[in-house]
Amino acid sequence: MRFGGLVALNDVSLSIDKGAVLAVIGPNGAGKSTLFNVVTGVYRPTSGRVTFNGAEITSRPSYEVVDRGIARTFQSSRLFSDLSVLDNVIIGMHTRTKTGVLDALFRPGASRREMAACVEKAEILLKLGSGGLFEQRYRPAGTLAQADRRRLEIARALASQPKLLLLDEPSVGMDDTETDALVADIVRLRAENPELSVILIEHDMRVVEAFPQHVTCIDYGSKIAEGDFAAVRADPRVQEAYLGKAVADA
Ligand SMILES: Nc1ncnc2c1ncn2[C@@H]1O[C@H](COP(=O)(O)OP(=O)(O)OP(=O)(O)O)[C@@H](O)[C@H]1O
Ligand SMILES: [Mg+2]
Repeated sequence: MRFGGLVALNDVSLSIDKGAVLAVIGPNGAGKSTLFNVVTGVYRPTSGRVTFNGAEITSRPSYEVVDRGIARTFQSSRLFSDLSVLDNVIIGMHTRTKTGVLDALFRPGASRREMAACVEKAEILLKLGSGGLFEQRYRPAGTLAQADRRRLEIARALASQPKLLLLDEPSVGMDDTETDALVADIVRLRAENPELSVILIEHDMRVVEAFPQHVTCIDYGSKIAEGDFAAVRADPRVQEAYLGKAVADA
């Protein structure tokens, strides 16, 4: 993926098996979010291919990517802050609903029944995670505490019933206790959906450590290491990437 003269992602090949968790780490500006943007059709890659379940989805529009079973959260919140917590989750369901505007006019019964089913499913999702999202379901999303906003982003992504969930720094703005609860939420989610695959971008090694099997490190748009967490952490290139950035930032 190039942006003018900047190569944001260079020859990065990644794959994930059904039911696996892959953690993507790397310093600021490494290209991690760009990777999600390429996979989800936000950016059209300059070259390369994205395949999902054997089908090519390169440069497909975002709604089609969601429809095929890939849902994501964003690094900075994309919630509808004036809408209620519940409505934000219901919006996440729209690719899985059947009735539309015309049905609301001409088949009001069918629309109402589908809406009631959506509310019920949304409430179930809001009860799943840690934190009291369900109790806060009628509040505008913008009034939630930071950690609850992050949780709501995940609940909304799950509303589209994804096969692959992409989480872009889900622990941002969370303290250690909240981060531990996030890890517990992801563990529970996977136990309940053994086929769900998860790619998570993380700076917080507490989270990465909890899903240590598959870790990939990206630096300056290139993959510099992959393996389990212990191997990646011990890799001199990874240490240099982080140390270099830490020194540069200081
Ligand atoms: N739309 C864009 N136009 C131009 N440059 C972009 C665009 N999106 C990303 N970039 C550049 O691509 C590079 C990778 O950015 P990206 O956001 O993917 O990094 P990141 O690894 O997610 O970093 P962070 O950890 O800070 O979130 C950066 O140099 C960034 O400025
Ligand atoms: Mg990013």
